[in-house]
Amino acid sequence: MRSDKPSKWQRTAYCGEIRLEHADKEVTLFGWVHRLRDMGNLVFIDLRDREGVVQVVVPSDGGALLDEAKKIKMENVLAVQGRVKKREEGSRNPHLPTGEVEVVAKKLKVLSVSRVPPFVIDDPPQATEELRFKYRYMDMRRPSMQRNIKIRHQAALNIRNFMGENGFLEIETPFLTKSTPEGARDYLVPSREYKGRFYALPQSPQIFKQILMISGFDRYFQIVRCFRDEDLRADRQPEFTQIDIEMSFVEQEDIFSLVEGMMTSVFKVIGVEVNFPFARFTYEESLEKFGTDKPDLRSEAEIKDLTEIGLKIDSSVFRNVLSSGGVLKGLVVENKGALSRSQLDKIDQKAKEHGGKGIIWIKKQNGFKSSLKLEIKDFSLIWENLKGKEEDLVLLIADERSKALKILGEIRREFVLQQEENKRSFKFAWVTDFPLFELSEEEKRLLSMHHPFTSPYEADLEFLEEEPLRVKAKAYDLVLNGVEIGGGSIRIHDLEVQKRIFSILGLDQKEAEEKFGFFLEALSYGTPPHGGIALGFDRIVMILAGEESIRDVIPFPKTTSALCLLTGSPAEVDLKQLEELGLKKTKD
Ligand code: AMO
Repeated sequence: MRSDKPSKWQRTAYCGEIRLEHADKEVTLFGWVHRLRDMGNLVFIDLRDREGVVQVVVPSDGGALLDEAKKIKMENVLAVQGRVKKREEGSRNPHLPTGEVEVVAKKLKVLSVSRVPPFVIDDPPQATEELRFKYRYMDMRRPSMQRNIKIRHQAALNIRNFMGENGFLEIETPFLTKSTPEGARDYLVPSREYKGRFYALPQSPQIFKQILMISGFDRYFQIVRCFRDEDLRADRQPEFTQIDIEMSFVEQEDIFSLVEGMMTSVFKVIGVEVNFPFARFTYEESLEKFGTDKPDLRSEAEIKDLTEIGLKIDSSVFRNVLSSGGVLKGLVVENKGALSRSQLDKIDQKAKEHGGKGIIWIKKQNGFKSSLKLEIKDFSLIWENLKGKEEDLVLLIADERSKALKILGEIRREFVLQQEENKRSFKFAWVTDFPLFELSEEEKRLLSMHHPFTSPYEADLEFLEEEPLRVKAKAYDLVLNGVEIGGGSIRIHDLEVQKRIFSILGLDQKEAEEKFGFFLEALSYGTPPHGGIALGFDRIVMILAGEESIRDVIPFPKTTSALCLLTGSPAEVDLKQLEELGLKKTKD
């Protein structure tokens, strides 16, 4: 009964599109067998395609048709011709967009059979991620994956249109190139022609987009793959996609308003009205208020400094920390005054996992209760200062400043993530004025906080060599719901400043020449002032789709250990291939 698709069988609609208005119409559908119910004298087939599922009934008067239907297996590919029928009252399925109708089959063909699937195709997925990634083609048949990939397409299309309408040209830049410093390791590609030499896959098109500005393409964008060999997490993949943007003759404000416009446009894909202008915090403000440079503004709660108050309170815990230069920081967690002892213990445990000594909690229900012994007047002082309400929970940390902020920031974020209603809330923030450099404790040297092409504020230029850590950068990140979705800066367009930065980063003239000579030379041929940003496309789509991992919006992702389980890469290669490349395997 297996056959190829006959030419006269033309699809009239997708399975998932059939509605009441199709009632009494003849349809031809193609799809996969999602579910099968053999009722003896009737067979029900849920037929699935990329638009959804529709119920097909093979009726008892079908004769040979019914016999055929009884042999059908899950995930077989079928062609069905039949008539749409309104379902009887009581047999409608309110959970299915097609649930008011069914298709009564008249003809049926099996176009392809399937082996027994490795897992049931359903949402939420039943199988482990390992199995799903090995059989990614099956995993992508799940309705939620079909939806996510569609959202990805719609978002890309929306962005391309938006950028085109705003005068941007999409220009491609090479993948086989030279190292681009973005703080990760490079993926290298050996050259066959020039043995011992390597291309690097770009960590971003940063240098090329700046060169495009020098070439006069003053509004560039590209939806582009980037490659970074770094530790992976839910929102990090070794290859990922950026919406990469660069503009000449602009200030930070121009980039902000462009991106705010783009976000407003792309969120329409999921029917969400974005509020702009977005909130703004300097890097320092963000750390002080939210304990992180990725503030999640779905909660208005801010961390407050209580050091002054702590000094007035007679407590050895406070005294010990505050007398050695530490701080007292507090956070009100709304409506959590009823948390149980074991829930509070978990928070305390979290604080310890993040390197703290633990957390002090205070409740104010029928009098103060706390993990710390204090006089009532002291509890009142703290409570009033934090403006807590009876039903709230107050959390305090006395510790070294950066640790206290970081831990309260982590705890604050966990509470935000727990709130179910926050799943449909989208709060953007710009974080600005980052330090230009950070000190790598490990390497005992300065690193660029963004990348070495970021412009310092002119007013700070005089401190570059002497006090580099006080220099602020014209750099900004875009944060959405506590996730960094973009980063950019106004660039250095002055050759001399660029050389000074390389030198502070420890690149001597020879090294700078070897690595970036071509770029330094380009800078000397009339470089317009310019700036830009790159947005993490996968992360934006993840949030649009309501997912928690970018792996769920990338068709063929890698695991967190950078493996492609579908193809089995990375893989061994033939010795002959290595030889051709002038490479030799060393012993493991
Ligand atoms: P940056 O390194 O901040 O900036 O990257 C921009 C954005 O890309 C996303 N991103 C990632 N997404 C998934 N997996 C990864 N491994 C990954 N790494 C980064 C983040 C991030 O905000 N050239 C500069 C941009 C510029 O200055 O214009 C750059 O690449 O959302």
